[in-house]
Amino acid sequence: MIEDKKLLDIIKVTVREDIQSMTAYPVSKSANYIKLDAMESPYDLPEDILEHIITNLRKVKLNRYPNTDKSQLIRTIKNKFNIPDESDLLFGNGSDELIHLIIQSCCKPGDTVLSPSPSFVFFEMASQFNHAKFIKVNLTDDLQLDTSNMLKSIKQHSPKIIFLAMPNNPTGGLWNDNDVLSIINIAPGLVIIDEAYYAFNKKSWMNRLHELSNVLILRTVSKIGLAGIRFGYLAGHPKWINQINKIRPPYNINVLTESVILSILDNKHILDEHSNQILLNRIKLSESLKKLNNVKVYDSYGNFVLVKFDKSISATNVFNELKLSNILVKDLSDSHALLSNCLRLSIGTNSENDLLIKTISKIISKK
Ligand SMILES: Cc1ncc(COP(=O)(O)O)c(C=O)c1O
Repeated sequence: MIEDKKLLDIIKVTVREDIQSMTAYPVSKSANYIKLDAMESPYDLPEDILEHIITNLRKVKLNRYPNTDKSQLIRTIKNKFNIPDESDLLFGNGSDELIHLIIQSCCKPGDTVLSPSPSFVFFEMASQFNHAKFIKVNLTDDLQLDTSNMLKSIKQHSPKIIFLAMPNNPTGGLWNDNDVLSIINIAPGLVIIDEAYYAFNKKSWMNRLHELSNVLILRTVSKIGLAGIRFGYLAGHPKWINQINKIRPPYNINVLTESVILSILDNKHILDEHSNQILLNRIKLSESLKKLNNVKVYDSYGNFVLVKFDKSISATNVFNELKLSNILVKDLSDSHALLSNCLRLSIGTNSENDLLIKTISKIISKK
């Protein structure tokens, strides 16, 4: 039997101090809840597409390492997601892995990564894992990009990498083209435009990629119905992709993921239909939320909506009561000063959204 104290002592002197003081990426226990906390698609794939996936999975050789020739996958992704021919692609086990690889390949310990704040928490976590300094530039009070502060901070800190999530998670905002261009123009290093949510607003920087020597575009299939397969891609100039590819773990895309993504993309229309439906559901949900008293609803371009409750209502209370009603959303109250009393609601099916509205309305009318 290993003695507890001995184990703890050796961990204490071995594991990095900053890692010891961190907590792992928070993921709520969600079994049996109506799950509106993580911006997944609420829609299952139809039976005929599942059959097509299973037929192709039978041919997969589980005893072999994945094929390192990714030309078919590259061709298919470029074709189905309208990626310019002259760009190259790097694939990741989710875009989370690509965020890691970007920082690892560019930052020495102490180098700077910069992002508006609040934004996707993993930008900061991956910077810390990789010993980079993370600079946050607060959004304005109404959660818009503070362009003049961004430009000032970029000049002051000379970041190796700037992450711009567009639309931004968790606020849902989409930054103005000219503001983004002014950031790209003064950035001394790489600008990553993270388009995880582009399917819900159709606005993309992809067709400008060839004009911009310091921009790469990051995308994921997680938000369009495939969060379970863990697949993201980074698009950009082959010379950039070549550098970052050097530190990619070999075989990072497993044979099951590759087979499933290729099979689903034979039927990409289903992903588009689901995304379009989610977009319509978001508009409807936002309109209904706006009718509630004491709730501010932020404009969203993603598959989620951020709401802020008036001081008379506690967002954490609403979160807890929703949970008691079997509905899981994201409580952001303690995550950032600008998000006090805020909940993020992922868009579900129409009936899930109707239930969400009905339940919130009941909870806040009791106050
Ligand atoms: C802006 C943004 N980028 C990337 C991701 C991660 O996506 P993936 O599931 O591909 O790791 C998320 C997930 O919520 C996100 O909000």
